[in-house]
Amino acid sequence: MFHMGWFVGGGYTAQGWGGKWSGNAGRDAFKPDLFVDMATSLERAGFDYMMLEDASLVNDVYKGSLETTLSRGGLRNDPMTLVPLLGKVTKHLGIIATASTSFYPPYLAARLATSLDNLTDGRFGFNLVTGSAHAAAQNYGLDKHYEHDLRYEMADEWVDCVKALWDTWDPGALVLDEETGVFADASKVHYADFKGRWYASRGPLNSVPAPQGHPVICQAGGSPAGRDFGARNADTLIASLVEEPGVENMKAYRADISERMIKFGRKPTDAKVMYMVQPILADSDAEAREKQQAMRAADAANTDALLMSMSYFSGKDFSGFDLDAPVPDLDGHNGHKSLVDAFLKNAEGKTLRQAIADRAQTAGSVELVGTPDSVAVQMGEIMDEVGGDGYLIHGLINRGRVTQMTDGLAPALRRRGLIRSEYAYDTFKENLLAF
Ligand SMILES: Cc1cc2nc3c(=O)[nH]c(=O)nc-3n(C[C@H](O)[C@H](O)[C@H](O)COP(=O)(O)O)c2cc1C
Repeated sequence: MFHMGWFVGGGYTAQGWGGKWSGNAGRDAFKPDLFVDMATSLERAGFDYMMLEDASLVNDVYKGSLETTLSRGGLRNDPMTLVPLLGKVTKHLGIIATASTSFYPPYLAARLATSLDNLTDGRFGFNLVTGSAHAAAQNYGLDKHYEHDLRYEMADEWVDCVKALWDTWDPGALVLDEETGVFADASKVHYADFKGRWYASRGPLNSVPAPQGHPVICQAGGSPAGRDFGARNADTLIASLVEEPGVENMKAYRADISERMIKFGRKPTDAKVMYMVQPILADSDAEAREKQQAMRAADAANTDALLMSMSYFSGKDFSGFDLDAPVPDLDGHNGHKSLVDAFLKNAEGKTLRQAIADRAQTAGSVELVGTPDSVAVQMGEIMDEVGGDGYLIHGLINRGRVTQMTDGLAPALRRRGLIRSEYAYDTFKENLLAF
């Protein structure tokens, strides 16, 4: 069996804006209903988790202007606010929301996580990112963002500080004895007295301890520093591999993470590696392939969106580059390192126009195109070969596409015994680590 999750790119945004089948995307923008419906569907399908992305800026790198981002609805409400609502309509689904270690003070984060873990009865997870945009850093009062590898070094210490705060409550500290009136046992609650190079916190936490003890930690950065951070701290890691897809690369990724985990004194089974995929489903394999070709052609023709996306990932304004010249050297970029480095490698010998069009030809770690049954078979065979732990669906979100995955693909996987038919445990982490 393998695990399934959904990466909600854009997070708490107007999902589906400008697309077909998006319901009343304008009228309902930033209402919770689509996310609530999605959470119940993912739980019906036996998914492990729904992960909400986030960022703290209105991006103005592309053309040096807010215009493109604003006209496309590239805004986000805080994903933490959705967590209790999604927790209320589900009983088993893990709910992960993104927090930046660079900007959240550890005490605020530790307390928020225990509060949300309590509200969801042990089903909260943090997707820990370091952030990449200078504009986001400036929103928190910095002149510019920290250098790439430094921010991961700081993130390790941040996690240590947050865990020290979570550990200020020993097991059994919460007494809740209504007869004696004793709420908590002071002999089992300690100061954290954490003093690091960048972070310090006294503790103890003043919130009730989390049902999971340490809520789930998820991580997505693919650079060597990012992978080390995930291997050291995460319970689930996301392998994007959009720039370098294929079964061999998936295998190499798992092997690399396992090796790094051992280096940090962990067992490779202590964390689940999930591969990003965008299955394209239809009533017949031929129809699914036609759909795929039409989608790829439309993506490749959308030059403006492709240039904007590379501007965001690299922090360099791609609008000023000559489309018919080789891709400029982006030396000194401080953005999404693994993605930008892989893009530059793939762009060698190509014009910028060709390189961005080629980038639109892959949409996940591996191509999955066909009927629910044929895609389910492919997913089983690939996971057997890769030795990974599962898949993370991403891409367009509307109710129709969610239903294709949860009520078409998931039952086809379940009939083959590839995904769970029920949840064995109460907490997110126990279900995640169960197989
Ligand atoms: C699937 C996925 C989800 C991510 N989600 C977020 C996010 O919500 N917020 C964010 O600031 N960065 C997000 N990132 C960015 C990563 O945390 C990281 O900064 C980026 O991948 C660059 O990492 P690297 O420099 O280690 O390659 C995400 C990346 C991936 C691949």
